[in-house]
Amino acid sequence: MFEMLILAIPIATAALLVWSSIRAWRTKKPLLKWGGGGLAALSAAVVTLIGVVLLTGLFKLHARSAPTVTLKVAGTEDQIRRGQAVADGFCSACHSKTGRMTGGLEIGKHFPVPIGSFVSSNLTPSGELSRWSDGDIFRAIRNGLDRDGRWLIIMSYTNAGKLSDEDIWAVIAYLRSLPAAGQTTSNPPDHLSPLGLVMLGAGMLPTGKPTSSGTIIAPSHGATAQYGEYIVSYQDCRECHGQRLTGGMPGQLGPLGPDLTPVKDWTFEAFAATLRTGVDPNGHALGEDMPWKPLGRMDDETLRAIYEYLAHLPGG
Ligand code: HEC
Ligand code: HEC
Repeated sequence: MFEMLILAIPIATAALLVWSSIRAWRTKKPLLKWGGGGLAALSAAVVTLIGVVLLTGLFKLHARSAPTVTLKVAGTEDQIRRGQAVADGFCSACHSKTGRMTGGLEIGKHFPVPIGSFVSSNLTPSGELSRWSDGDIFRAIRNGLDRDGRWLIIMSYTNAGKLSDEDIWAVIAYLRSLPAAGQTTSNPPDHLSPLGLVMLGAGMLPTGKPTSSGTIIAPSHGATAQYGEYIVSYQDCRECHGQRLTGGMPGQLGPLGPDLTPVKDWTFEAFAATLRTGVDPNGHALGEDMPWKPLGRMDDETLRAIYEYLAHLPGG
């Protein structure tokens, strides 16, 4: 309905402008004929262009798709424990604004331009998930689509899809173990503003990480660089600290994070203390943009794995 409306506005405006340019063209008054007619024709062309970009945006908004998943998670104690570790150390950065996994964080406020509203969903049984199958939740985490196959914009920008199949099962087990809590969040949880839609149509907003239907297997747990590489692959460090973790690039969607290569000169204790206290070895207090609180909730083994990985970055 809303989509039809924002498309109807440029179409109606363009039609009106074409009509007035024809009217102006037919008059005998030269100024009105050439000036008014030309201006109206030019405006009609501009408005038509905006309409085309909007239409492209609408097309991209509905283009994402991935097959449904059939799945029933066992929900063992081990799964719940592992799922909680992933949720506490990652998902909670966005989903625990008002309480444990109760959502309510407006990510739209953190973008430099008003591209829309994106409120993190309540993932406890008070939210939509109580009506979703385990397979629906799996597809949302892996491929950024909701139960109805609608694009979950922010989810598709995160690296949550890189979690291994087993880790996603564990997260589902954990979410299913939570008590209902908090306010219900709106459904759908996100919508682009007309500006966001134009930017999407013009290719200025990403369409999300590519979807995948393969199996993802994690390396075995341990304080190794290999396991650290896996953790960093599903965490969003690169969205802020850059693809090579050598610092973000101006113009990226995420907040600009600094070069992480100096971490190799820190001791593991100093690295862990930075993420657990929010103060780095130089006494510098980290700002709000760095999600050190959720990251600092990871256990020693996991933090050491990340440290090992960062200390052995190629070229670092
Ligand atoms: C960067 C912030 C961020 C992170 C990290 C994040 N989410 Fe989300 N999530 C959102 C937002 C915002 C939405 C609302 C829809 C959208 O725009 O993606 C959402 C929606 C969802 C939904 C759809 C719920 C619904 O009612 O439609 C599920 C399921 C979900 N997230 C699970 C997770 C899980 C599990 C994790 C961790 C593995 C996670 N999210 C990590 C921000 C985040
Ligand atoms: C949403 C963006 C974002 C994400 C995600 C993020 N960071 Fe950061 N990080 C920042 C910003 C911004 C700073 C600088 C904070 C400041 O100095 O106020 C920072 C600072 C740091 C620092 C301190 C650097 C120093 O020299 O003081 C470390 C270490 C760090 N991040 C590691 C990580 C790791 C590891 C991950 C992933 C597991 C990660 N960050 C994820 C944005 C992010």
